[in-house]
Amino acid sequence: MQGKKGIIFGALDENSIAWKVALQCVGEGAAITLSNAPIALRMGKINELAAQCNAEVVGADATSMEDLTRLYQRAMEIHGGPLDFVLHSIGMSPNVRKNKPYTDLNYEWYAKTLDISAVSFHKVIQAAYQLDAIKDWGSILALSYIAAQRNFPNYNDMADAKATLESIARSFGYHYGVKRHVRVNTISQSPTKTTAGTGVAGFDVFYNFADSMSPLGNADAEACANYCVMMFSDWSRYVTMQNLFHDGGYSNMGISEKVIEMIKGKGE
Ligand code: NAI
Repeated sequence: MQGKKGIIFGALDENSIAWKVALQCVGEGAAITLSNAPIALRMGKINELAAQCNAEVVGADATSMEDLTRLYQRAMEIHGGPLDFVLHSIGMSPNVRKNKPYTDLNYEWYAKTLDISAVSFHKVIQAAYQLDAIKDWGSILALSYIAAQRNFPNYNDMADAKATLESIARSFGYHYGVKRHVRVNTISQSPTKTTAGTGVAGFDVFYNFADSMSPLGNADAEACANYCVMMFSDWSRYVTMQNLFHDGGYSNMGISEKVIEMIKGKGE
């Protein structure tokens, strides 16, 4: 990562996946700019991270093309030209937050879920594409969850957002690949104890279930950060338009001996 420059969205506090990615990138020699929504800048601890990373914080609501354009322009000023990598680590559902079930969604909130958690990824990429803000062979990543493919009832409308997010990586990956060899991927991460993660009802149960199903156990935020660094590095240049499972093997499991034992234990 020596000499590479990038933007990291979504570090709220030290549990955030983006927080760990920022530290890893800088630890590996990259220079970064941090961004988050204006409200998160007021409530979160991003300035602590910025000090540790010697990074400037530039606020941007990821649903606003104006904010994103300003952010890229500032980041290119800071770093003296186009960037090498971008991490989209953004998610929020008002329906999940307010316990609205999937069978009784508030459609204004549903639109917000999709806008913040999925369409913002398109905007992050489109703003960069139009400003030509990413160098040849650059790398753009977003974080996803397996509810994009399989049903996890409590994940609610975020499942639809993640399915869209993964589709955007495939669709834009084509165009940015042709234009500049820029690769676009999503990483489908194990349940992780963060503000967004623990906001989902029953989080502890599906955290423990996934941990018991996966031969390697759940991947934690640090491990996810390592994987992100690999995807930003030159070692993954020909990987694009993919959804990459980073989940300890969970996605290919049917049932595990641990889970069998758990169910048997309950039956006895
Ligand atoms: P987090 O709560 O620390 O991060 C979510 C971030 O999104 C926050 O920094 C928040 O300020 C930001 N955000 C919300 N609205 C925004 C907006 N309009 N503009 C810009 N930023 C906005 O939680 P976490 O878990 O680190 O989430 C990061 C990503 O990882 C999300 O996409 C999440 O869905 C995904 N993920 C999380 C898993 C988990 O179990 N924690 C599992 C799989 C994926």
